[in-house]
Amino acid sequence: MDSIVVTGGGELQGEIPIAGAKNACLTLMPATLLSEEPLTLTNAPRLSDIKTMTELLASLGAEAKSLQNGQVLAMSSHDLTSAHADYDIVRKMRASNLVLGPLLARFGHAEVSLPGGCAIGARPMDLHIHGLEAMGAEIELRDGYLHAKAPKGLKGAVYEMNFASVGATENIMMAATLAKGTTVLKNAAREPEIVDLATCLRAMGAQIDGDGTSEITIQGVDRLHGATHPVVTDRIELGTYMLAPAIAGGEVECIGGRIELVGAFCEKLDAAGIHVEETKRGLKVARRNGRVSAVDVTTEPFPGFPTDLQAQMMAMLCTADGTSVLEEKIFENRFMHAPELVRMGADIEVHGGHATVRGVDKLKGAPVMATDLRASVSLILAGLAAEGETVVNRVYHLDRGYEKVVRKLSSVGARIERIKE
Ligand code: EPZ
Repeated sequence: MDSIVVTGGGELQGEIPIAGAKNACLTLMPATLLSEEPLTLTNAPRLSDIKTMTELLASLGAEAKSLQNGQVLAMSSHDLTSAHADYDIVRKMRASNLVLGPLLARFGHAEVSLPGGCAIGARPMDLHIHGLEAMGAEIELRDGYLHAKAPKGLKGAVYEMNFASVGATENIMMAATLAKGTTVLKNAAREPEIVDLATCLRAMGAQIDGDGTSEITIQGVDRLHGATHPVVTDRIELGTYMLAPAIAGGEVECIGGRIELVGAFCEKLDAAGIHVEETKRGLKVARRNGRVSAVDVTTEPFPGFPTDLQAQMMAMLCTADGTSVLEEKIFENRFMHAPELVRMGADIEVHGGHATVRGVDKLKGAPVMATDLRASVSLILAGLAAEGETVVNRVYHLDRGYEKVVRKLSSVGARIERIKE
């Protein structure tokens, strides 16, 4: 398994291009199942998760061609041959469960393996299931698979979620586009990826209003046509690279970044003493003065502080002036980066969903273990300003969500290399 070696020290200068959003692309790709006509995505990120979704679509008989060095995904599900999403693929990537709604809507039945838990939590699907059942689906859990059917087709329904689940919002919204009648989804997720999916579905002929708010209304139509859609900028990659100059010093411009994608995150950066300037091409980030200040962070559904930037923010707060408290309210086990940062000399105490970080002057490089996608990149960020070398192992986690991280950070002066093993 490859590892990445970061040698700390030296400020960063230059610009980093931000790619299309992994978490938008992973819900846009299953949308191809809703139409017999081709769906083409541009500005697609080149990531292993995208390859996994391509594999899954191919196993259903859909075609997904990667063009222009992976930045364009030309898909067609004219000749679907299966509605069975196999455990072998689904267990690798939870987002595979986003084929459930589209298959039910198109085929009237689907067999989707339950993904099982992952490092950050149990990841149940009760909200997906209840929402689709409200639309007339009959869903039974058997042998680890969800066996879903809607023999008379799906019908519009009013469904209120007890938690603003991103995936459940996406599955239900996609299914509702072809249901008979109107669906109103209450307490819907408001993430930019939801708006991006709704925009793509509208381009395919769907009738959707209210995306981006907590109440989405979908008027079912008989069929959807093909479309070409640009994937929205990845706000999590954006926030990750905005933290690089905050941790290492210097100034970096994140090309393609937009403030509205990272509003709550920028408020916390501002409070910590980080200056963010909107430019014609993106967001320019630098520390206002020497050391960053401690800030408290609580993760919430959008527009709150994103859970996917919690680990990266903690990496910065390890050397802040003062004590910060981070509260993780989205996932039950998302502090696995903390013990690895402690190996680098950080002073962190975790109690349940809270982590207290007492700022130290400097971290020291050490061999550390990546446990999940966002934890792995937080260790790389920490290594940028640590004394000596930090060796991050199991970087396959990283490849799931960050394209060319070594090239992007090297291009602004970081001393970072990938060791192939
Ligand atoms: C999406 O996951 C993202 N993944 C996650 O990003 C992100 O952390 C998460 O949204 C929250 O923003 C993709 O978009 C592919 P949820 P998702 O349903 O849809 C509970 C990354 O690093 N829940 O909003 O699975 C669940 O257990 C990944 O890129 C239920 O209880 O998130 C969790 O505690 C990690 N029942 C919370 O809600 C359900 O039916 C958030 O889950 C569904 C979810």
